[in-house]
Parts: sequence; C-alpha cells; structure tokens
Amino acid sequence: MAEADIALIGLAVMGQNIILNMNDHGFVVCAYNRTVAKVDSFLENEAKGTKVIGAHSLEEMVKKLKKPRRIVMLVKAGEAVDDFIQKLIPLLDKDDIIIDGGNSEYSDTTRRCKELKAKGLLFVGSGVSGGEDGARHGPSLMPGGHKEAWPHIKDVFQSIAAKVGSGEPCCDWVGDEGAGHFVKMVHNGIEYGDMQLICEAYHLMKDILHMDHDKMAKVFLEWNKTELDSFLIEITADILKFKDPSGKHLLPQIRDSAGQKGTGKWTAISALEFGMPVTLIGEAVFARCLSSLKDERVIASKQLCGPKGSKLSGSEKSFLENIRKALYASKIISYTQGFMLLRQAAKEFNWYLNYGGIALMWRGGCIIRSVFLGKIKEAFDANPDLQNLLLDGFFKKAIHDCQDSWRNVVSTGVKMGIPMPCFSTALSFYDGYRHGVLPANLIQAQRDYFGAHTYEMQSKPGTFVHTNWTGHGGNVASTAYNA
Ligand SMILES: *[C@@H]1O[C@H](CO)[C@@H](O)[C@H](O)[C@H]1NC(C)=O
Ligand SMILES: *[C@@H]1O[C@H](CO)[C@@H](O)[C@H](O)[C@H]1NC(C)=O
Ligand SMILES: *[C@@H]1O[C@H](CO)[C@@H](O)[C@H](O)[C@H]1NC(C)=O
Repeated sequence: MAEADIALIGLAVMGQNIILNMNDHGFVVCAYNRTVAKVDSFLENEAKGTKVIGAHSLEEMVKKLKKPRRIVMLVKAGEAVDDFIQKLIPLLDKDDIIIDGGNSEYSDTTRRCKELKAKGLLFVGSGVSGGEDGARHGPSLMPGGHKEAWPHIKDVFQSIAAKVGSGEPCCDWVGDEGAGHFVKMVHNGIEYGDMQLICEAYHLMKDILHMDHDKMAKVFLEWNKTELDSFLIEITADILKFKDPSGKHLLPQIRDSAGQKGTGKWTAISALEFGMPVTLIGEAVFARCLSSLKDERVIASKQLCGPKGSKLSGSEKSFLENIRKALYASKIISYTQGFMLLRQAAKEFNWYLNYGGIALMWRGGCIIRSVFLGKIKEAFDANPDLQNLLLDGFFKKAIHDCQDSWRNVVSTGVKMGIPMPCFSTALSFYDGYRHGVLPANLIQAQRDYFGAHTYEMQSKPGTFVHTNWTGHGGNVASTAYNA
C-alpha cells in the first residue's frame, strides 16, 4: 500500500509541473488537491502514462506514503498553509516531513517550524523559483527549516533542481527556520534591482544615443557574451526586437507603468527593519511606484523642464561600453547589498547561512540566473567568512575597472536629465562604503545640540558625552526628542 516516495498537495500549474519533474527523475508521487475532481483529471490528462498516483483524501494520501512521509504543499500562502498543516498533524507520525513550497512569508515559516517541532514533526519552507517552466524542467530550490529533514529530501530536491556547470544542482540546504523563504524574498528583491538596472541602460541608449530597437537588441546580445551573461539580459534582447503583427516594435507601445506583487517591497522593509543599506532594491521598488504615477507624470512633463543643450561628448561606441560597465558595477553593488542583508538576518535570527550555496542556488533555474553568480560562489568558497563581497579580490578589481565608466555614465545622465535611481544609488553606496570618514559627526553634533542625545569622541569610542553647546541650554533630557 505504501508505494509513493513523496506526496504533493495543490495541483495548480506549479504543482503539476513539479510532480511531472519528480516523476521524470524516477520518484513515485502521490497527487492531491482539495477539489478532488482535479486529481482525476490530472491523472487522466497531464499525468497519463506516468507513475504518478492520486489520492481522494488526505487520509488516503498519507497511507500511500513510505516513511518517513514527505509531503510537499504548493498552495496559496497564508491561511491555506496553516489549514493543511492542522489537518495533517493528526494523520502523521513522528519525524514525518511537511514541506511548504509556496510563497510564504519567512516569519510564518519560522512560526510553523516551532509549532511542528513541538509536535515531533519536521517542517521545511522552501523557496521555489523559475516559474512554470522552471518547475517542469529544473527550478531553483531554496529549502530551509528543520535540518534533520534534509537527508530525507535531498535526493528528490537535488534531482529535480536546475543544473549548472558539470551538473551541480541549484539546490542546497539554506539554513534554519524561515531562512529558505527569506532567501527567496531577497532573490525577488535582487530581481527587481536587476530589472531596473537594465531599464536604466535602455533609457540611456534610447534617449541619449537615440538608438533604434533592433540596434539595442544587438547590443544586449553582445552583452550576453560578457560578464553580464544572464537570463534577464537575454530576454531583454528578445523583447527589444519583438514586432507586433503589423511589423512595428511592440516594446514602445507598452504603457510605462510597472506593476508589483510586493516581494521587492518586503525585501526593502526587511532592510529598513534590520538597518541594512540595501539602497538599490529600495530604489528599484520606488522606481516602479514612480512609474505607476503615469497620469501625473504626463501632466508634469508639460510643465517641468529639464536641462537645456547638453550633448554627449565622445563616441557612441565608447558611451555604450561605459553603460555596460556602469550596469556591471551597479549589479555588483546590488548583490553586495543583498548578501549584507542575508548576513544581518543570520545575525538577528541566529541562523547559520550557506552563502556560497545560496549563490549556486541562484546560478541556474531562477529569474536572476547568471554566470556572475558563479563568481559570487567562488568568492564565498575561497573565504566563507567574507565580510563583504566588495572586499573579495575579483569584485574589488571589477569595480575598480568599471569605476571611470560608471562615473561618466552617472554624471552624463544627470547632466542630460535622465533618471537613473539605481545606477546612482549604487555609486553613492560605493562612495559611502569606501569612506573611512563620513559627515555623520555633524549628525551626532546636531542630535546632541537639540536633543542632548550625546556623542562619542573619535579618540574614545564607547564613551558617550554631552556638550552644553549654547551656554544657555537647560537640562534637556535625551529622551525629550527622538530624531
Ligand atoms: C486545487 O487545484 C486548483 C487548480 O485546478 C488550484 O487552483 C488550487 O489551488 C488547488 N487547491 C488545493 C488546496 O489543492
Ligand atoms: C546568452 O549566453 C548564453 C551562454 O552563456 C547562451 O546559452 C544563450 O543562448 C545566449 N543567449 C542568446 C539569446 O544568444
Ligand atoms: C550651560 O552653560 C551655561 C553657561 O555657562 C550654564 O549657565 C548652564 O547651567 C549650563 N547648562 C547645563 C545644563 O549644564
């Protein structure tokens, strides 16, 4: 009776494709969906001729599973996940494993880990990226939670995951509690950043170099052969040259108002919460917000003017190469900031995170997949305690090589009135990070002046003092203001 290696709940397209992927790799999967008719239609259609079996109730599903039981849920994040967990608990035995492969918030995953631990069950929250196609042919998988579960799910997970290089799977154990879903969230934030960076390059090509779409497509194809080799660069080339049935380029006909589902926003909120300067993802989220004020922008465009009479100096070819390097340098900053956020989360939650493994998980299968991530993996392999990606030899050199071009693009863009929120925040971050001394001494003095918040002397860090700045300041308590 116990014939299935693993069960999967939730037969939307992602669930179906993961099941078929598991089946391809020799695992016997038991499929279940709350709407039972869906199970039958799946078995009769998409799963026809496979070894996939079905269940018409959770009881039946559990009975069909080998022990320890492994149950993957791909259902809507939130209440549905908790509902299924509550229904499963009485049906399962000690050390059985529940895996949530949905888009759960990491804090929910941490809570569920604790709840299920108390019941003797193992819980895994796994980020899954790569969309429907990835699910079918090799997603990026980011599992975290109870590590005792990993030896029992590793084979299935690594078999179905995307492969890179000489067959390395884009799936490894991420870390404790909600770490898998946290890493997935940061992945999505980085995706926002990568997309906005490409948009800024496109804007500069279009409005400073006045290139046509086919020509821009060719440039992106060329860039795909450089350090920028990645899925997003590749699809951008395809998008730029795409024509509608009447033979006109489609892209300029698309309304310039970006949507979002919130995952970039969550990364930015976490960054604020943990006090990490993940500025590029923040700017990428705000750039979408500004774009969505389309009607207001159209009104403003008729009233607010930009710089007059600025012209590009130098050749188109050299400016294009400058844009490429600005994009590359900004991308290095974005990933640097992303890993800073991961490091801080690890500190806050006492997680041990596998940074090199995370880079490898993003290397293939997912939207941000790129050759570049292989370099990040190498950096963490060479030094697992690497404090900051910018301090790795390879990235330090890359940034130094790009620096002049990057500054040229940002200053040219500013002079010519092209918005580049991500290119410029990346450069500001770089310049801030590399300054041993910032003007924050003045902030401390101001805070002490008006709020007696106290400050430390350079010569005596850790000792807080207050100065009677005005000679008539009364006894201002430092609790009086919070600024
Ligand atoms: C059941 O299948 C449908 C697709 O037909 C899907 O939308 C739904 O999320 C699934 N629900 C559960 C809980 O299995
Ligand atoms: C981009 O480069 C990769 C190789 O690194 C290649 O597989 C892919 O086909 C290239 N894309 C295009 C559209 O040429
Ligand atoms: C600040 O200095 C003035 C002038 O010396 C003095 O009268 C006053 O008491 C001081 N205030 C405090 C809080 O020490």
